[in-house]
Amino acid sequence: LDVYAVAGNPIAHSKSPAIHQRFAQQAGQQMYYGRLQPELNSFAQTAKSFFSAGGKGMNVTVPFKLDAQALADQVTARAQLAGAVNTLWMVDGKIHGDNTDGAGFVRDLLAQGIVIGKSRILLLGAGGAARGVIGPLLEQSPKSVVIANRSSAKADELIGLFANLAASKEVAIESRTLADLEDTQKTQHPFDLVINATAAGLSDQSPLSAQAVSNVFMPSSFAYDMVYGKTTAFMQQALQRGARISDGLGMLVEQAADAFLLWRGTQLASKIDPRSILAELR
Ligand code: ATR
Repeated sequence: LDVYAVAGNPIAHSKSPAIHQRFAQQAGQQMYYGRLQPELNSFAQTAKSFFSAGGKGMNVTVPFKLDAQALADQVTARAQLAGAVNTLWMVDGKIHGDNTDGAGFVRDLLAQGIVIGKSRILLLGAGGAARGVIGPLLEQSPKSVVIANRSSAKADELIGLFANLAASKEVAIESRTLADLEDTQKTQHPFDLVINATAAGLSDQSPLSAQAVSNVFMPSSFAYDMVYGKTTAFMQQALQRGARISDGLGMLVEQAADAFLLWRGTQLASKIDPRSILAELR
């Protein structure tokens, strides 16, 4: 039986095993998918043992995506740009790494009827989660992307990394601090799409102050929070402004779909139905 696993710390509540088991059922594939919880300093050791014992593929989640990138012998261009790896697999004794998060995110938006082309996007946060979605968003040719972060240095760093891709797509890309969003002169608000890729939700906070909220949202805005399992403070702010909201569960299912197809073969794409699995999970 081909064995796969998701590695993270903590990992007990991961939905990935359930999602992949459903994909396997839909596609008629025999496989086992389990959970691994490496110690914080022993991801590489755990992953190497997994693959030398015959493991076929691994998904990687918080906090090991950078370790996974370092471990992989070969990394796809999009994973390099994302600065992180969430999917590993073995080919001829070499560990390959990819990142399906950004593509999964964009597919979830499109499945929810969100038009990214020509839209004005506000991306909140400049950590790994934000970096992973910028490339795939730019590929959809939005009108503009504003990256707003608490500290400006990290946002400026991302602008530098994606400046060429943005220019080639004719997308205006700029950085702001979260405080700038309170100033009506400093944003081209409101935005069509506002994405919360900060870790603020984990501590029940929103990155947006009350003043910023009234600047960035309009009733036709769509607010996306990458976390799932709760209506975050950020989502509540958006609702109060009459905007539509989404959590990140669809992104989780869609990135898993891409990993499954990488491992088991893209010809299975027509057999799996991520949206039906998403509906079952809700
Ligand atoms: P991840 O990989 O989840 O993106 P990360 O790399 O640690 O994690 O990045 C966390 C992001 O959330 C950063 O953009 C961080 O802002 P700073 O760069 O200024 O630290 C942001 N963040 C965390 N807590 C926040 C809070 N309470 N309010 C606003 N932003 C917050």
